[in-house]
Amino acid sequence: MYRTHTCGELRIEDSNKEVTLSGWVQRVRDLGAMTFIDLRDRYGITQLVIDENTPEGLSSKIEEMGREFVIQAKGIVRERSSKNKNIPTGEIEITLSGLVVLGPAITPPFTIQDDTDGGDELRMKYRYLDLRRQEVQQNMVLRAKMAHATRSYLNSLDFIETETPVLIKSTPEGARDFIVPSRMNPREFYALPQSPQVFKQLLMVAGFDKYYQIVKCFRDEDLRADRQPEFTQIDCEMSFVEQKDVLETFEGLTKHLFREIKNIEVEDFPWMPYSEAIEKYGSDKPDTRFEMLIHDLTDVLKGNNFVVFDSAEYIGGLCAIGCGSYSRKQLDGLTNWVKRPQIGAKGLVYVKCNEDGTFKSSVDKFYSQDDLKKWANVFNAQPGDLILVLSGDKPAMQSALGELRLEMGNQLGLLDKNTFKPLWVVDFPLLEWDEEGQRFHAMHHPFTAPKPEDISLLDTDPGKARANAYDLVINGVEIGGGSVRIFDSGLQLKMFDLLGFTPEQADAQFGFLMNAFKYGAPPHAGIAFGFDRLVSLFAGLDSIRDVIAFPKNNSGRDVMIDSPSEVAKEQLDELALQLKK
Ligand code: AMO
Repeated sequence: MYRTHTCGELRIEDSNKEVTLSGWVQRVRDLGAMTFIDLRDRYGITQLVIDENTPEGLSSKIEEMGREFVIQAKGIVRERSSKNKNIPTGEIEITLSGLVVLGPAITPPFTIQDDTDGGDELRMKYRYLDLRRQEVQQNMVLRAKMAHATRSYLNSLDFIETETPVLIKSTPEGARDFIVPSRMNPREFYALPQSPQVFKQLLMVAGFDKYYQIVKCFRDEDLRADRQPEFTQIDCEMSFVEQKDVLETFEGLTKHLFREIKNIEVEDFPWMPYSEAIEKYGSDKPDTRFEMLIHDLTDVLKGNNFVVFDSAEYIGGLCAIGCGSYSRKQLDGLTNWVKRPQIGAKGLVYVKCNEDGTFKSSVDKFYSQDDLKKWANVFNAQPGDLILVLSGDKPAMQSALGELRLEMGNQLGLLDKNTFKPLWVVDFPLLEWDEEGQRFHAMHHPFTAPKPEDISLLDTDPGKARANAYDLVINGVEIGGGSVRIFDSGLQLKMFDLLGFTPEQADAQFGFLMNAFKYGAPPHAGIAFGFDRLVSLFAGLDSIRDVIAFPKNNSGRDVMIDSPSEVAKEQLDELALQLKK
C-alpha cells in the first residue's frame, strides 16, 4: 500500500497513529539536530520530521533527496510544538520511521509554488510541472466541479448527453476551419467542428427533444486572452421551445452554478436589446458592473462652428465621476490612449466640472460656459466630474467610447472581480454587411431565425431584420450565444440566398439539413456557453489559458509537445499531399 492517508488529511485527532504518506518533496530544511520535509500532494502539505529518535540510515537517504523527489514516508502522527495556523495539517507532523524513494527528480526549471520564479514560456514548456502548483491545480479542480454541476443540472431536466463527430464537413460559423486530410479518400478533407451546430439540429429532427454535450470545438482564428484554437462549449438544443424557454433554462443553469460553486445568489438576468447595448455601452457585451453610460451628444453639440464636431456623423460622450481633477498629463495620456489604432479616435475633447461650478474644456474657444452647462446636464454631471467626448463615424466611435468606458472603469477601480452582473443581450441583427466583400454575413450563423415580425424585411430591407438570437454576457464577457432556428427548408434556402449562396451551392453544402427539415422538423432553439470563459470568470482570471490543462500559446503552438510540427514525407505521400518547394 503506497499510502494510508493523503497529505491534506491528518489532524490533531490522528495523533499517535502510524501512517504512510506518498507525495512530492516540496522542501527540505536541515536545522542540524532536526530536519523537516514538506511533503506535498494534490490534497495538501504535511510536515515530516527527522530527529535524534529517527532510525539510523534514514538520514543518509534524506541527504540524497532533493526538491520534487517522489517518496513514501512512514511514521507516527505527533502534535507539533510550533503550530502553523495557515494550513489545515499545521497542528501535526509525522516523525519518520521509514522512507522509500519512489521516483527521484532532477532539479525542476522553476520552483513549484504559488509565487513561482518561472516565466510564462518556461511554465508552458514544462506544463506538467506548472500543473503541480496548487494555484493552477485549483483551477482545474474548479473546472471539473463546474462540468459536474452542469451535467447534474441538465440531466435533472432530462437532457440527453450525446456525442457528435469530430471529423466532419466544414460548418460556417465565421472562423476558418482546421482541416484533416483523408488517406482513404485522396485529396479530400474532413473539417474539425467549429461547433456541433448542424448535428444538434439534426438530433432535434430525430426527436431527441433536449440535447447537451460538453464538447471540444475548433476554430482557426487569431488568438486572444479569451480565445483558444480548441476550446470547450456547453452545447445545448431544445425542441418545442421559444426564446424565453431557452433563456429560462440556461439562466437556471447559470444560477445553479453560481449557487453550487460560489455560494452566490444572483438576481434575475435583465434582457437588453442589442441596439440599447450599443447605444449605452458601445458594445454588444456590456459590462454592467458600473454605470458611466454613453450619451449621444450629436444634436446638443453641433452648430458652434467647431468643424470637427460639425462634420462628424456622431458625437458621443461619457462622464467619469470624480475625475475632474485629472492633470494635464493624465488627460494627455487618455488622449494618446484613444488615438491608438486599436481604439481609433482622432482626438479627445474633455470638460472638467470645476468645484466652483464653472467648467474648463479643451474647446473653450467654441463653447461658452452656458453651452458647457448643457453638456453637463445631459450627464447630470456634478462638480468634480469629467466629461469625455469623441466624434466621428458612428459605429467606430460608439465602439471607441465603449473601450474608453472600460478603461475609465478600470482606472476608477470599478471592475470588481467578486461582483457578477449577468444579462441577456437580445434582438441581434440577423445580418451584417461586409463592405469589403459587398455581401451579407450571418451575424450569429445561417441557421438563425429572423424575428417573425421582421420576416417581411428579408425582401425589402434585409439589413434591418432582427434575429431571435441572444447572448449571455457577464461582466463584459460573452459567455454564451444561441438562437431560435429556422426549421423550414424554404426559409433556410432564402437565408442562404441572402448570404450569397446559389441554390446549387446551398444544396451541395447543406442539402442534408434542408432535406432533413422536409421529414418533419420540430420548432427548435439552442445555445452554447463557452465553458473555458465561464470557468475563468468563476476563477477571477483574465485568460482562459489558466483554466485549460494543456493550452496553446498565442501563436497556436503547444510548446511542450512542440506542435504543430512537420511530418515525414512518407506520411504526406500516403495522404496524397505534397509540400510546395
Ligand atoms: P458561438 O460562436 O457564439 O455560438 O460560440 C458560443 C460560445 O463559445 C465561446 N467561444 C470561444 N471560447 C474560447 N475560444 C474561442 N475561440 C471561442 N469561440 C467561441 C464564447 C461563445 O459565446 N453553434 C453556436 C451556438 C448556438 O447557436 O447554439 C455557437 O457556437 O463564449
